[in-house]
Amino acid sequence: MYLDYMTLIDLQNSNKDLISVRDFTREKIEYILSIVKKIEAMPEKQQKLIAKGKIISSLFFEPSTRTKLSFESAAYSLGCSVIGFSGTSGTSVKKGETLSDTIRMASAYSDLIVMRHPLEGAAKKASEVSDVPVINGGDGSNQHPTQTLLDLYTIYKHKGTLDGLTVTLAGDLKYGRTVHSLAHALSLFNNNKILLVSPDILEMPDDILNEIGGRVTIQKTSLVDAIKESDILYMTRIQKERFSDLQEYEQVKGFYILTKKMLADAKSDLKVMHPLPRVNEIAVDVDDTKHAIYFEQAKNGVPTRMALIALLLGVIK
Ligand code: CP
Repeated sequence: MYLDYMTLIDLQNSNKDLISVRDFTREKIEYILSIVKKIEAMPEKQQKLIAKGKIISSLFFEPSTRTKLSFESAAYSLGCSVIGFSGTSGTSVKKGETLSDTIRMASAYSDLIVMRHPLEGAAKKASEVSDVPVINGGDGSNQHPTQTLLDLYTIYKHKGTLDGLTVTLAGDLKYGRTVHSLAHALSLFNNNKILLVSPDILEMPDDILNEIGGRVTIQKTSLVDAIKESDILYMTRIQKERFSDLQEYEQVKGFYILTKKMLADAKSDLKVMHPLPRVNEIAVDVDDTKHAIYFEQAKNGVPTRMALIALLLGVIK
């Protein structure tokens, strides 16, 4: 039997926010995924009553398509209203207002804040000054915990388990926050193997490897070898916007391009995932194969984020 989510939150980090996968336990993830499933099974009319009348702040200091739109779709589907901004050009940030003051205002005008920010630690800082729950929609190269939950939900739907899987993380493992969060989450389950595929200058940071290394098997390999062995191939974009030296980016852009032909030796039930947006790391001829589930993965963002909003508002158990 699971503990209710707020109890788990209190046990883990004594607050009401969703900032990092580091705050998760296996039990907490399983509980959240059970709520996603529950919400997905409800008729739309019933979903609309779950958080009727609540106001969600959607504060995107950094570009987004999926996270922003799926959070807003999730909020409307729960009966909420949404306020916020996409980019700071029309806001008082341009007049020099601090992150803390901006968050204090959003906290005064709404019941929950979803935010994305280019700086690592911004969501944590926001949670410290907010009177309402804060959900991290991505902070710099650090964490993207809601992406991880929708990734896990997608994996569970296809594999029926989150244990005993061989998962390849490929591409930009240095700056890609989705792979940092996912690697952490996979290490909370049993007997998973993580294969790492990246250019030398974009390897997974040592602090993350040290943190999860005792809990999960980790191996560096090539994309060709990884494809043969994997249950999940999680491709990622090279994060051009995080490079201080664009010449370095030019050296590694297009380093990995997955094509349909390369999947000939894959297990028949290999699933290819990608947090999106893709640039050119998955050729479009992969889209129509039985392996591609990245658009479905993005779609799962809506029920997953509905569950998270409802849980943090305390309106579902
Ligand atoms: N996966 C993801 O975070 O996509 P966006 O940057 O479009 O939100």
